[in-house]
Amino acid sequence: MRKKFIWFSILVPISIVGISFLWKSALFLFILVGPLVAIGWIDILQNKQTIRRNFPVIGNGRYLAELIRPEINQYFIESNWDGMPFSREKRSIVYQRAKGQLDTIPFGTQADVYATDYEWINHSLTPKVPSKEAPRILIGGKDCKQKYSASIFNISAMSYGSLSKNAVLALNRGAKMGGFYHNTGEGGISPYHLKPGGDLVWQVGTGYFGCRDADGSFSLEEFHKRATLPNVKMIEIKLSQGAKPGHGGILPAKKLTEEIIAIRGVVPGKDVISPPAHTTFSTPVGLLEFVAKLRENSGGKPTGFKLCLGRKREFMSIVKAMLETRILPDFITVDGAEGGTGAAPLEFSNSVGTPLNEGLVFVHNALTGAGLRDEIKLIVAGKITTGFNIATKIALGADLCNSARGMMFALGCIQALRCNANTCPTGVATQDPELVAGLDPTNKAVRVANFQKATVHSLLEVIAAAGLSHPKELYPRYIQRRVSPMTVKSFAEIYFSVEPGSFLKNVLPDAYARAWKEANPHQF
Ligand SMILES: Cc1cc2nc3c(=O)[nH]c(=O)nc-3n(C[C@H](O)[C@H](O)[C@H](O)COP(=O)(O)O)c2cc1C
Repeated sequence: MRKKFIWFSILVPISIVGISFLWKSALFLFILVGPLVAIGWIDILQNKQTIRRNFPVIGNGRYLAELIRPEINQYFIESNWDGMPFSREKRSIVYQRAKGQLDTIPFGTQADVYATDYEWINHSLTPKVPSKEAPRILIGGKDCKQKYSASIFNISAMSYGSLSKNAVLALNRGAKMGGFYHNTGEGGISPYHLKPGGDLVWQVGTGYFGCRDADGSFSLEEFHKRATLPNVKMIEIKLSQGAKPGHGGILPAKKLTEEIIAIRGVVPGKDVISPPAHTTFSTPVGLLEFVAKLRENSGGKPTGFKLCLGRKREFMSIVKAMLETRILPDFITVDGAEGGTGAAPLEFSNSVGTPLNEGLVFVHNALTGAGLRDEIKLIVAGKITTGFNIATKIALGADLCNSARGMMFALGCIQALRCNANTCPTGVATQDPELVAGLDPTNKAVRVANFQKATVHSLLEVIAAAGLSHPKELYPRYIQRRVSPMTVKSFAEIYFSVEPGSFLKNVLPDAYARAWKEANPHQF
């Protein structure tokens, strides 16, 4: 659209001048065209609003509508937002925090406090002063030689390919500014992940992009080359992802550029499908041996795996394999079925995989019951965009959180739902060079850093209001949920917990007993 406008702004005035030689009155057309050209150039030259840069003149319609939002939303927009992954309220708070704007809301609660899924934290009559220091979490167990001190809130896996180069640059620069990490996603490490110098978690998926041989199998040599880069702080093996567990990755052919083809080592013209399963291992013990191999060949960096919880017996098999081999991952990332993606079949997004709370509680309990919880950090992702969201996950057992779509909102995503079509109007999830150019990485990096900082600050405020000094003091009993119109339960009543090491004494709750009994470290 920008290119079309530039041609319009050159050709139309020239044509008017040309016509005026034959018909003098044609010059009056400048009264109409002049302001349009002026507005369009102002739109192109500013760098704060991507939609205006990508869609000069007409893009202003969106911001004009925003100005009178309360009025039009009520009647036209809100009714069309049913079923959208994120409500307007959830997006707005990210935008406000990313832009460094006032992030209070007027007039009172916007939540329906009598809805059956309403959640809250009980405050204290002796609230604390919020800590000024953002919490850090040290990741790395006994076999790790380069422990990593992570922020409590980080950028979740999203590949270059799924996201544009300017989006990747802005995320990594934001991570550098704010001292948090940026997960590469399964598409490999691109120059845009490395240039700004932010901390990286390198994700190794089933496609082994960035560490594969010509035939697509895993290459230790290629892995070693990149894993030892100083920017790479941790290694994450991707087993599955909440939006499409058991399916594997999809990068639509439309989004393939020459550069992405080269980075991933794939063929042009075809959707890039990562296989659903790894080819380097096929048993729980095999997975852990792969963890050990990657850790060793990265110079001892924290190495773990990411999954959306599926069949419980299979996860228990991994836990039994840990006990048998004593090979432990340094961290496990649990993704919720509510997670996001660039592209996935509807059935997989909506009906496959365990939602985050249930998945997190199971993984936390399985590791606790096996006496391994203290040695492995738990990272979680799934619609975490506020300080309260982080508090609820920490209360359920997480050590730190990731956000993917929250960070996309900070980049200016408007939830146009075109990530799979290469036509994302905000330049975030597209490879169309014209749309990508509208996203200014310098400006958006500040927004990413602002959003992360303000969200961590809000977490500290929430826990201080609950009378706590540190997120690690949060327990399930602090979080309440209305489960029916007349019943409220705390997370401690909804989700059960197990005693450390209890599985080793064969003390298991009924819900876990069968999975534990049937678990086999040598077979998934
Ligand atoms: C555009 C996009 C691309 C993603 N790519 C990956 C990926 O390459 N690897 C992965 O493990 N997860 C990927 N995810 C999932 C996220 O990392 C995250 O686990 C999930 O979206 C839940 O977080 P959220 O609710 O904050 O988005 C992607 C998500 C999005 C929205």
